[in-house]
Amino acid sequence: MVPQKRKLIIFLCSDNSKAKISVMELCRRMGFIPVDMGLLSSSLEIENLPLYLFPSWRVPVLGTLALFIFFYLYNFIQDILQPYVTAGKNFFYKMPIETVNVTLPSVALVLLSLVYLPGLCAAFLQLWLGTKYKRFPDWLDQWLTMRKQLGLCSFLCSVLHAIYSLCLPMRKSARYELLNLAFKQVNDGVEISWDDEKVWRMELYLSVGIMALGLLSLLAITSLPSVANTVNWREFSFVQSTLGYCALAMATIHTLLFGWNRAFIPAQYRFFLPPTFLLVLILPFLVLLGRLALLVPCVAQRLRQIRRGWEKSHHIRFTLLQDGSQNSLENVSHV
Ligand SMILES: Cc1cc2nc3c(=O)[nH]c(=O)nc-3n(C[C@H](O)[C@H](O)[C@H](O)COP(=O)(O)OP(=O)(O)OC[C@H]3O[C@@H](n4cnc5c(N)ncnc54)[C@H](O)[C@@H]3O)c2cc1C
Ligand code: HEM
Repeated sequence: MVPQKRKLIIFLCSDNSKAKISVMELCRRMGFIPVDMGLLSSSLEIENLPLYLFPSWRVPVLGTLALFIFFYLYNFIQDILQPYVTAGKNFFYKMPIETVNVTLPSVALVLLSLVYLPGLCAAFLQLWLGTKYKRFPDWLDQWLTMRKQLGLCSFLCSVLHAIYSLCLPMRKSARYELLNLAFKQVNDGVEISWDDEKVWRMELYLSVGIMALGLLSLLAITSLPSVANTVNWREFSFVQSTLGYCALAMATIHTLLFGWNRAFIPAQYRFFLPPTFLLVLILPFLVLLGRLALLVPCVAQRLRQIRRGWEKSHHIRFTLLQDGSQNSLENVSHV
């Protein structure tokens, strides 16, 4: 739940429970995390553990691939298939770079939201249950343990997106487009082409995007065990949680500025599908709104109490007890 610094895990199994408890205690004292794997018969399973290929990465990587395929098909339909079917325009050359460069940042932003969503679910669940001592449901527990892998997948997609973006003007297609535009402009008799709004929009969204990537790089560096071991829990939590939320907010602003007013242009809804950036913004918006809700003073105060060990059920019992004793005191005075 709370970001974990790396500690070595020791798997233990034995038919003698007393011996197992003693060895587990010894492991704990030596700074390892002992995990009880049950009876000696499970030793074969433990011996096979090193043979598994990245077991903790399976779900995050498959999730990233699934998101990539979904967004790639979505962008293909919108940007390539629709102009081909409706106007016979051949934009298939966009498939290797432009379509990939819309898909990668979309996956990155959705994954980044999925990193912070389980923490919010956990917080709201704690508020609802009024305790931190109840176990989270299994799906939430597993989701919480996957955040590091989801975050690193998001970071990879962001880095690739930045490199692809830098390569956009290098392409032959971009140069031909520019030449054609210049030729058209000369034909139309336009001398200077300068749109203040477009210029400002691009300067701003690029700058915010670069900042978001910078913050994500910090998160990625701190997740290296050698770096994580040199910072204390508060510092690690500040980078991972506070700066992580800043990165999410910046990536959201980057996408908002990129999209600008296009959400209100009907031509952007090709085949009646909303533009990709609009679809991609839903989840980060929900996460940021959820986080803002947790910052409301009364909610933040209650969450802080719960994290310090306060429990709703104890409080109710205590109040009932107080009410009860007050009533009996009143009865006594009446008598
Ligand atoms: C590039 C990158 C790298 C990352 N590397 C890592 C990594 O190495 N390790 C890692 O763990 N994550 C990593 N992440 C994921 C993510 O940054 C962290 O998990 C981050 O701490 C999540 O912050 P949070 O505020 O959502 O959750 P948390 O701070 O974990 O809080 C989640 C919930 O737990 C509960 N909680 C928090 N504190 C307490 C408390 N003291 N007592 C009781 N309950 C409490 C609250 O309900 C809270 O809402 C990485 C992400 C990215 C993008
Ligand atoms: C150095 C950092 C970055 C640069 C240079 C950059 C650049 C760009 C560019 C040029 C575009 C427009 C692409 C196009 O014309 O189709 C864009 C769009 C976008 N970027 Fe970034 N970006 C950066 C970082 C990020 C990060 C960190 C994220 C998210 C985690 C992100 C998410 C997005 C999204 C969602 C879009 C909209 C895609 C679409 O719907 O077309 N970017 N970015």
